Formats: sequence, structure tokens, C-alpha cells
Amino acid sequence: MKRAYSTPNGKKNRVVPSVIFVIFGGGGDLAWRKLVPSLFDLHRDGRMPKKFAILAVDRAQFRDVELQKHFLDGVKRFSRKGKVKGGDWKNFASHVTYQQGDFKDPATYSNLAKSCVGLDKDWKIKADHIFHMATPPAMVGIIPKMLADAGLNRDRERARIVVEKPLGHDLDSARTLNRTLTESFHESQIFRIDHYLGKETVQNILAFRFANPLFEPIWNRRYVDYVTITVAEEVGVEHRGGYYDHAGALRDMVQNHLMQLLCLVAMEPMVSFNPDEIRNKKVDVLHAVRPISHKAVQQCAVRGQYGKGRLDGKKVRGYRQEDDVSSHSKTETFAALKLFVDNWRWQGVPFYIRTGKRLSRQVSEVTIHFRAVPHQSFPPDASRRWYPSRIVISIQPEEGIVLGFQAKYPGPKMVLRPVEMRFSYRESFAIRSPDAYETLLWDVMNNDPTLFMRADQIDAAWRLLMPVLEVWAETNPRNFPNYAAGTWGPAAADRLLTRDGHNWPLPVSSADHEAATPCPRFDSNRRRPSQRDVNVRRKVNSRKRTK
Ligand code: BG6
Repeated sequence: MKRAYSTPNGKKNRVVPSVIFVIFGGGGDLAWRKLVPSLFDLHRDGRMPKKFAILAVDRAQFRDVELQKHFLDGVKRFSRKGKVKGGDWKNFASHVTYQQGDFKDPATYSNLAKSCVGLDKDWKIKADHIFHMATPPAMVGIIPKMLADAGLNRDRERARIVVEKPLGHDLDSARTLNRTLTESFHESQIFRIDHYLGKETVQNILAFRFANPLFEPIWNRRYVDYVTITVAEEVGVEHRGGYYDHAGALRDMVQNHLMQLLCLVAMEPMVSFNPDEIRNKKVDVLHAVRPISHKAVQQCAVRGQYGKGRLDGKKVRGYRQEDDVSSHSKTETFAALKLFVDNWRWQGVPFYIRTGKRLSRQVSEVTIHFRAVPHQSFPPDASRRWYPSRIVISIQPEEGIVLGFQAKYPGPKMVLRPVEMRFSYRESFAIRSPDAYETLLWDVMNNDPTLFMRADQIDAAWRLLMPVLEVWAETNPRNFPNYAAGTWGPAAADRLLTRDGHNWPLPVSSADHEAATPCPRFDSNRRRPSQRDVNVRRKVNSRKRTK
């Protein structure tokens, strides 16, 4: 049950009066890079509750001032708003304190309980308590029970726990983790973060589909030929080789972020904006995805690992040469799947999803490829090639939507050319999108679970991927590394589509795409623009952006 301040739609009205935000792992990377900068930005926007405290808990010895200096450094680097005014920081920092403590020691939790009671007394109000586990995964099995033993879980209305991924390593461990959480906290108190759900453009998928009568009638098997979802990264594993080498692309990205995108693109319209209504509709999609049998893995899943290559003109090393990665690693840094959603809306429509590190561009896009017109009434020479219409939902780096369709080329003859209508967040709205964590932390504070993953959703996603994980674990990927850093992944990922007569589209927000003017922007079969074209276009774009 939500309290009076918590209305399903009027986010603006929902400001809790007081919050104690406890960060377990307060001295760690996530707190430094994401949590504190986001809380600071919320504070600067006047969106933090009137009374709030941030308690950073960690094993290391810090003095309050030291920690505040460390946090200020993170804020300067990662805050969305850039420059930090001294006054703003001083005010915010006065709410931040540090508590040294071992996560396995009951005394840590009794001290925490004392601090919470003390603050409630000072504020003369019962504050909401948020326990954010920004810790290594092993601690996630310990902290909830310790909190429960200290009685910090009891108030179902006011106590919430926030869990970060990885939410398990496979189906069994995900279930065990879930049991650990639910033994100590009620499902309604558990907020499982998938930061993709906090991204503006990801949330906009719902607005685009269900706030406009225009698109929904064609959003189905009658009109859609196939759907592609790409989440491509230029970065490699950076300093996370130790974690990544035990995870791989399927666990790190597909099980969570790509599955969430798939759900939002394929779900049925929700009846209301009620959190569980939306989450029910999403989980229905996962239940409808055709299970991949062990035998079918070979046909509908592709894995890859990057070798050395070039990105932005610079040489980069291969995955096996990265820090903390085994020199014989079989871990995939690229994964592509072909899926079917077996329901009335999507029967027979393939959904191709791919993600990878050290790919040619950092870009996340969903493309809906529509069927060709049923009958060709134009003269055969009107077009060298027919371009079916497409809708591209561009999640990053550009944030917007592109509608690609055919238009008449000016002149006496009937000549058709593909053109685009573009909606760009940057151009349409004068404000910058909040960081995903700002949105998500704000929602946790307001007890709104809409953008968080429910246990059944996580379970369903793991169940779907288990055969792929099992087959991949059993078979040796002899051809690894099978793509060079700076390319679009292994050739087999292209074949996954071309053998069905389909293609991965060139990203609409890439320089390649822009460079290919005036002609077709969305045909990956066409001649690739030269590196020179791409460099020139990049310069133009970056000048446009800095203006
Ligand atoms: C994280 C993954 O969940 O998402 C990382 O663990 C990945 O490996 C990151 O780099 C990508 O997020 P974004 O927001 O940069 O697309």
C-alpha cells in the first residue's frame, strides 16, 4: 500500500518528508561514480526530501571530511550539471556522514539502528530508511539478514532495500539470492536496479507506443517484418576484467538490459500506470518468448570475443590481453540471439538482439523494420532498391526517434528515395535528461517500483537463457577471438540475419550513417563511407553539439 504522498502519476507531488539513505559500500566505486553524484543533482534540483541524511557504511577507516572530499571529487567528475558551487556542496555535504563497520558484524547494524532512531528523534518524524547495497555480490547474501536481525526491515512502509546486479550467475543462484532477500524483506520492499530502465529514452518507449494512437495499430505481425535491438559499446572491460571474465556478455547485458528493452518493445498496452500492471505486462513477454532448446542454440545464438584492433584511429588490445582476464579466456564479449515471441501480436516475427564490447560505435537502438508494401505500383526504375519503412528508437548516444520512409525525389520523373523524420530530445526539450540513477533513486525514495525488476521477471529471463549458457559452457569456442576490436562483431552475427533475408541496420546516430548523405541512411548493404567521410562528419557533429 502506498502512502498519501505516493500517487501513481503525479511524481511532482510525491516527495517523502524525510529519508535516511544508507549506502553499504559507501567508500566504493558505485557510490563515488553514481549514487552520490545523483543524490547531489537531485538535491540541487530541490528534489530531495526536506529532511535527509546519507549514511555511508564501509569497512575502511575514513573520517567524515575525508569521505566528503572523496565524494566531492566524484561529484565534480560525474555530476550531470558539471560545475559545483561551493555553497551547494557545503549544504549537501552537511547531510553526509560516515559509519565504519564490517558488514558481517552485528554491531554495525545496531549502530545503524541507533543512528536512525537518533535522527527520527531530532527530526520529530519517522523517516523512510533506504538500504542501498553497493557492495560486492557476496555481501548481498549477508546484509539483508543482518538488517532483519537488527529489526531494520520491520516497517514495510518505510524500510526498503536496493539491490544491484549481478542478480545471480544462473537460474539456481538467482533463485537462492531471491530467497535470501525475501526471507528478510517483503517483495514490495525490494528494489532491484536495472539502470537501463531509468534512461529517459527507454521510458519513452512506453510513451511513444501507448500515448499515440498512430503507431500501436501497426505494431504487430501484420506490419512488422522483424525487430532489431542493438546495445553496442566502444569500451572494453576497462578495470572490471576480474568480474567480467566470470560473467560475459549474456549475463552482463542480455539477461537484464536487453531483456528489458525486448519487454518494453513487445509488451501489450497496460491498462493503467500501476507499477504491477506494467510489470505484469512485461513479464508476459518473457513467458511468451519461445524457449531455446539446447539443440537450437547453434542456430539462434552467436557469441564472440574481441581480438586486438583499432578504435578511433588508435590501436587497442584484445580481450585476452586485458587486465585480470585469462590469456585463454573463453568468455564472450559479444552475444547475439534470434528470438520469437509466441503470441497473437508477434507470431512469426523474429527479434534479433545483439550486444558487445569494443564494437565500432557506442550506440543503443531499437529498430522496427516494417514489411514492404503489398503491391508495387511505381515504375520499376523509380527506385534502385526498395526501402521498407523503419522506426528507430535511439537510446544513446543520440536520444530520440527516427522514422524512415520513402519520398519522391524532386524532378520530373517519379524517383523514390528514403528520407527521415527525426525527433531529438536535445532539440525538442530545453533540459538535459537526468542520469538514470537520479530517476531510479528518486523512485526508490518515493516508493515507486515501476522501473524496478520483479523476482518473477528475473527468473523468467534466466530460464530463457539457461540453455544458451549451458551449451556455451560445454562447447569450446575454438575460433576466439573472432572479431577485431572496432568492428561490428563476428561475421556469424550478420549471417544470423542475412540467412533470413534481413540485416542489422547501420545505427542512425553513427557518423557512418550521417556521412552517407544524400542517399539511403539505413541500408547496411550499401557501400560503407570512407574513413575520411566519417571523420569529416564526426567533426561537423561535434561542432554542432558544442554550439
Ligand atoms: C552495465 C554493464 O550494466 O552496463 C557494463 O555491467 C556496461 O558492462 C554498462 O558497460 C553499459 O551501460 P550504459 O548505460 O553505459 O549503456
